[in-house]
Amino acid sequence: MAQKILVISGDGIGPEIMAEAMKVLDVLQRDGLTLERGEALLGGCAVDATGEPYPEATKKKALAADAVLLGAVGGPKWDVLPREQRPEKGLLGIRKSLGLFANLRPAVVYPQLAEASTLKPEIVAGLDILIVRELTGDIYFGEPRGIETRDIDGTTQRVGVNTMIYSESEIRRIAKVAFEAAQRRSQRVCSVDKMNVLETTQLWRDVFTEEAQHYPNVQLSHMLVDNAAMQLVRNPKQFDVLATGNIFGDILSDEASMLTGSIGMLPSASLDENGKGLYEPCHGSAPDIAGQNIANPLAMILSTAMLLRYSLKNEAAARRVETAVMEVLDRGLRTPDIWKEGMQKVSTKEMGDAVVQALARQA
Ligand code: IPM
Ligand code: MG
Repeated sequence: MAQKILVISGDGIGPEIMAEAMKVLDVLQRDGLTLERGEALLGGCAVDATGEPYPEATKKKALAADAVLLGAVGGPKWDVLPREQRPEKGLLGIRKSLGLFANLRPAVVYPQLAEASTLKPEIVAGLDILIVRELTGDIYFGEPRGIETRDIDGTTQRVGVNTMIYSESEIRRIAKVAFEAAQRRSQRVCSVDKMNVLETTQLWRDVFTEEAQHYPNVQLSHMLVDNAAMQLVRNPKQFDVLATGNIFGDILSDEASMLTGSIGMLPSASLDENGKGLYEPCHGSAPDIAGQNIANPLAMILSTAMLLRYSLKNEAAARRVETAVMEVLDRGLRTPDIWKEGMQKVSTKEMGDAVVQALARQA
């Protein structure tokens, strides 16, 4: 039976980069990959069409699909709406409703791009880290939350409230993902917390330490989040797998993306307990450059490779796509975000076409 994927282009540069990923899938399908593709709305375009960022119809299709491929959501146009209608709510909604608790964000420096980073090439060359970010808990979803009025020292004031909360089972299942990922890599997990101040993260550290007993070949270390932020730019190659809660992983993964030269290169996978997943670039919808045919489609194409690997269990196809991306970088093709003197500046479409040609040459 053909596997079903749901394609959600979203907002901003989403549709442009998704079009390039679709060309890649076209080639693979021509070469024998069987796949059923559906489409759905999420984020700002969904608000415009239906009034909701995560319409029921999208939810139904997402639940029925084997995997979801997502471009990006959001933009200033929708920032003025009530929180419930903002595009980000759609993204958080789809992650939560599909139970996608494990967010894998690899930060790999391709040898061809070591010069594109703002850090010295010797600091980042050869970097290969994996951030394993918990995605359905923490302060993102904790209750109580909101902006309310309270009586404080005799005056009535507005108070903003969010709750950082993790249960033992939530920590344990993400710890397992991190340890198992490390077993396939360099056998090292660095767990990130703020146990010197926050009880939630003391529990995080305790549960990681307990869980490590089951993975004697994996070396577990702990690091406070502020130090981790510093170490990531001081000496990023000390890390293999970085395991974080939702909010710390949000922040550290943006930081890690810059080690690689451009956030336009970074794919991500968000997985449930059974390997079903949502695949999206780490970058956002970049409304400032939308519609100009200059966005980098490689994170979207590499996210498609992750979909092939993790949800469709097609390692060969995933490798084919990754090899094609390496080849276009070898040829010196660069979208503006990774362009340097001496390289060939190309558009979104030209980059996608080059990947397609590289794929065709492999067959
Ligand atoms: C990300 C994004 C989202 C997040 C936003 C858009 C809700 O920053 O995927 O990292 O905070 O998770
Ligand atoms: Mg983020």
